Amino acid sequence: MTQATRQVHLSAPWLDGRDEELVLETLRSGWLSLGPTGPRFEELLADAAGARHCAAVSSGTAGLHLSMLLAGVGRGDEVITSPFSFVASANCAIYEGATPVFADIDARTYNLDPAAVEAAVTERTKAIVAVDIFGYPCELDPLIELCERHGLALVEDACEALGARYKGVPVGSHGHPTTFAFYPNKQITTGEGGAVTTNDADEHELLVSLRNQGRLETSSWLLHGRLGYNYRLDDVSAALGIGQLEKLDRILGARAEVAARYTELLSGVDVEPPIPDDADHVRSWFVYVVRLPETAHRDDVARLMRERGIATAPYVPSIHLQPYMRERYGFHEGMQPVSEDCSARTLALPFHARLERDDQEYVVDALRAVLSSA
Ligand SMILES: Cc1ncc(COP(=O)(O)O)c(C=O)c1O
Repeated sequence: MTQATRQVHLSAPWLDGRDEELVLETLRSGWLSLGPTGPRFEELLADAAGARHCAAVSSGTAGLHLSMLLAGVGRGDEVITSPFSFVASANCAIYEGATPVFADIDARTYNLDPAAVEAAVTERTKAIVAVDIFGYPCELDPLIELCERHGLALVEDACEALGARYKGVPVGSHGHPTTFAFYPNKQITTGEGGAVTTNDADEHELLVSLRNQGRLETSSWLLHGRLGYNYRLDDVSAALGIGQLEKLDRILGARAEVAARYTELLSGVDVEPPIPDDADHVRSWFVYVVRLPETAHRDDVARLMRERGIATAPYVPSIHLQPYMRERYGFHEGMQPVSEDCSARTLALPFHARLERDDQEYVVDALRAVLSSA
């Protein structure tokens, strides 16, 4: 098979001269870690998410781990989460000695099905990690109600959802700790990085201490009031984050346009496109994922697309079927049938804010051709 000359990448960050200027300014200031830029980034991010407080951290995974500590999760506890997510949504519970418990998803939204969560609650359940997968907001109201009724902590994994809105209110501002992530495939990037928003001042104070080796607000550099971590975000990364937040609306608008164009181009192609927004759910476009028909072999489709120079990804494998999960907990096929079926049939197409119509047409034409042959 000859190598295709045209290449369409899966994702690409939006970086420009303003980002370079801000990063350079911070480098020249000499404040490379805990300078004035981090707090400015946090303020802008809190504004964007409509939250009272925001603590920047070194990754989304770090933010989820700290959220487990806020929730008081520990050895012997169970934490319910979605199997249809990135592994960090479940790993954060394991880090604290708790057991991840999976509840199945709604095949339409790919997010946790509140009825399945209810059925998974036991006397050992301590918290729920609700994920906004692919930037589509999860069913927060039923989950909040369920947590209140059972005395559980709610933690939101919005790593893929900066800019999404649930019932008209931005994700991150509903009160409970909400984690965002800024790896370069995300809506905005800081290289590596993340943040946790909360409306609770005490939770925020604890986050700030935990990410900084357990130092207390009043303590000197070498005095540690509690066990903490080095989960700080450095000022150079925060400077890039400021450049990204300054154009957040443009980035989100461009991503929504690219998504709308895909949906239009895909009409008549035998795939299920992502569901549209409704009055309660406004998605922030993270990836554009289609569901292939049952008859198509997803991995063959991906291979044939790759031969045409088009990158795709099998987003996302079900977490409970990852090798280490099977080994540790004895999880197996058939435990989360909806998630497993979605995992077998979903395919992320190349997607980013500056993807040109021409490339999208090339991707869709290739997909149409591949599906009729695969
Ligand atoms: C749903 C979800 N949770 C958590 C994470 C972890 O974020 P990070 O890679 O910044 O640790 C990601 C990142 O891909 C994610 O998509």
